[in-house]
Amino acid sequence: MTSLNDIRTTFRDFFARNGHEIVESAPLVPRNDPTLMFVNSGMVPFKNVFTGLESRPYTRATSNQKCVRAGGKHNDLDNVGYTARHHTFFEMLGNFSFGDYFKETAIPLAWELITRDLAIPSDKLYVTVYHTDDEAAAIWKKIGVPESRIIRIATDDNFWMMGPTGPCGPSSEIFYDHGEHIWGGPPGSPEEDGDRFIEIWNLVFMQYEQFEDGSRQPLPKPSIDTGMGLERIGATLMGSHDNYDTDVMRDLIEASAQATGVDPFGDQNVHHRVIADHLRSTSFLIADGVMPSNDGRGYVLRRIMRRAMRHAHLLGAKDPVMYRLVPTLVRQMGQAYPELGHAQALVEETLLSEETRFKATLDRGLSLLDAELEELGEGQPLPGETAFRLYDTYGFPLDLTQDALRERGREVDTEGFDAAMAEQKAKARAAWSGSGDAADDAIWFAIAERTEPTEFLGYDTETAEGQITGIVTGGAEVKKVVAGAEVEITLNQTPFYAESGGQVGDTGTLVTDTGKVEVSDCRKKAGLFVHVGKVVEGEIHTGDAAQLTVEHERRSAIRANHSATHLLHEALRRALGDHVAQRGSLNAPDRLRFDFSHTKALTPAQIAQVEQEVNDFIRQNDAVSTRIMTPDDARAIGAQALFGEKYGDEVRVVSMGKMAGSEKGLDKQTYSLELCGGTHVARTGDIGLFALTSESASSAGVRRIEAMTGQAALADLRRRDLTLASIEETLKARGDDVLTRVSSLLEERKALQNELGDLRRQLAMSGGGDKPAAEAKTVGGVPFLAQSLSGVSGKDLRGLIDEHKSRLGSGAILLIADTGGKAAVAAGVTDDLTGRISAVDIVKTAAAELGGKGGGGRPDMAQAGGESAENAEAAVRAVEKLLEA
Ligand code: ALA
Repeated sequence: MTSLNDIRTTFRDFFARNGHEIVESAPLVPRNDPTLMFVNSGMVPFKNVFTGLESRPYTRATSNQKCVRAGGKHNDLDNVGYTARHHTFFEMLGNFSFGDYFKETAIPLAWELITRDLAIPSDKLYVTVYHTDDEAAAIWKKIGVPESRIIRIATDDNFWMMGPTGPCGPSSEIFYDHGEHIWGGPPGSPEEDGDRFIEIWNLVFMQYEQFEDGSRQPLPKPSIDTGMGLERIGATLMGSHDNYDTDVMRDLIEASAQATGVDPFGDQNVHHRVIADHLRSTSFLIADGVMPSNDGRGYVLRRIMRRAMRHAHLLGAKDPVMYRLVPTLVRQMGQAYPELGHAQALVEETLLSEETRFKATLDRGLSLLDAELEELGEGQPLPGETAFRLYDTYGFPLDLTQDALRERGREVDTEGFDAAMAEQKAKARAAWSGSGDAADDAIWFAIAERTEPTEFLGYDTETAEGQITGIVTGGAEVKKVVAGAEVEITLNQTPFYAESGGQVGDTGTLVTDTGKVEVSDCRKKAGLFVHVGKVVEGEIHTGDAAQLTVEHERRSAIRANHSATHLLHEALRRALGDHVAQRGSLNAPDRLRFDFSHTKALTPAQIAQVEQEVNDFIRQNDAVSTRIMTPDDARAIGAQALFGEKYGDEVRVVSMGKMAGSEKGLDKQTYSLELCGGTHVARTGDIGLFALTSESASSAGVRRIEAMTGQAALADLRRRDLTLASIEETLKARGDDVLTRVSSLLEERKALQNELGDLRRQLAMSGGGDKPAAEAKTVGGVPFLAQSLSGVSGKDLRGLIDEHKSRLGSGAILLIADTGGKAAVAAGVTDDLTGRISAVDIVKTAAAELGGKGGGGRPDMAQAGGESAENAEAAVRAVEKLLEA
């Protein structure tokens, strides 16, 4: 067999034929194990099935699992390139029995596949068993393996453990003899480390679960886990003991040779091997959602990338190399792993940007390293401080420096490196303590000091396991909490989004073997994600593994609102102009709010245009993509950044929407490009619907838009519809007729109001209402008419004064109206008398008695207000006195 693709298919087909469910490879970031950095063997996705925590609809399975070994118990990074069989990325072929068959079936199945389907001559094969495993030895013998080729091993080599904890058991391994021309001896012999006898398949008889305290419990049922490295069996079947001598690796090495113009098989071969291997791990990690960063998984990815980039540099490459090899990888592996093809653009872009940036400091870092080495005496290790400077200033991960020194036979003083790192952390802490932050944050800094920052897994998953690193209740850190307690919990990793950038924190549940917490919020403190909630069952301890589940409906709604906010931002910019900049936002499950710089209210036409455009891009249903780049690069491609916001070394750029148009280049055709750390929909269509519910002023020069999406928008529209329906029902009108009907009702109302005013006036003139008709009497020689009224408004008084004037012909008039608690006063003086007495004086005098202040008008007509009409009689008397004077 001459291709890894064929071998993979043969393996899968064989076990499918034998009643096994074909299970597709799980993502490289484990969802079910908080202590594991990457999936590092085929059984990891099935861990909880072995221990009985999880059940599946099948008891036999087969898979070809992507694995990365570059951290934790199984870490191969340092050796990659220099040996025949180490990889950071490889595929593990395996078959699994979950309490179904055990050794008696696993061994014959393996033998049949190896000797029949893969046609390996049995005289090339040896097997090992754990020294006490007579049963396995007997089965091998029974199927025809001569006793001389069954080797008993007493060491850990034949006891397989996933990690410090988890399922484990004795194992039996199959070895291939590459022939006398290669140095080496059979397993267990002093020469076993040679390359002649190579292990090609490990059959693990899973029987126990190992716990943190070192104890072992039997699994619910004996099970089977096998692992065959595809590259290794591939090399064997292609007649080599070197994994890099397989079709896929050869193609990648050729591609690297072409890109750098350096002979693939000459003495520079090691660099090509490093590049070929690291290209696979980095591409697959990026395709599974890991992005380069300065901590956690992202940092492991960065270390691998940079290690490869140094080797490209050693090949003399002037320009970035890695991204040019991605098409070869996709051609080779894209069919078996479609995620690789889907992420191709992202992988290429991430590699290109990382390599471009790293190249800028690589040369200078390497010269510094050379200069330092010149100073050192024979065999002296590189001082830790220098290694730290290379790390801190030039972006050299420690293992890159170690790799560079390896060729020169030197080591790094790693203790010195750790000390320099600790010192820097201490300085950061000292700087923080002086910054005057709230005292209760001290507790989070104390936890952050002894743990890594929380790793956020929630861009790709809503459920994952995390390990509890701190519990705070009642303002103090504790080791244990019980049901009823209000708690704040930190974990090493989590799918919960912690409130930031306007997006609210997630809610959901945190469940351990012994208890349950309802999480009501998640916030960021000192780089930690703090899960706020209440213990509702049992008890929770520091160190526990917890199953974390984000409330799916709520998170989906938040995602839709956040993505809609980006579309809204862009639609506003296009409708109103480039001055539109975000001034604040809220992305909650039920609504979104967006504040932006703009001075005028939007016209109804602008509102309609914006709402329409957002919905057009929702219906376009374009994939939303996320990339990591420097803030400068992000601005250069036109990404919208928040004004005045401080960004770190790198930012996430979220793009959505495709523009029809002639401009070339990916980013020119992208509708919305924004710097954003939030969570987003996979495709714009997931937003469903966008309804703009209000537009208003937020503060000077800042407008505010509120809107809804998806189900909430639909519910809102339905609510509006129901309101309209009941209006139609009440008005007995439909559709457009409602408006005509309302207009005519308003007209009618106006006519009725006028009519009512006329009637009130007539009534008042004729002495109607609750007061007797007023007659003028002569006071101080002037005909004076005073009247108290109710049921008329202040406005009506002017008309009444005029009517009284013309009725009297000559005289002064005072009207006091009770306007529902307050008083309205009006006075009139006929023109012949204005020389003797002024209406203004009359209202002022009357108003003073009624608790009012001032009053104004002309000598013939004046008005004032008062607190109450209760003292109307006293007011009349005061005016009479005025007239008598
Ligand atoms: N889980 C076993 C291994 O990784 C099969 O070797």
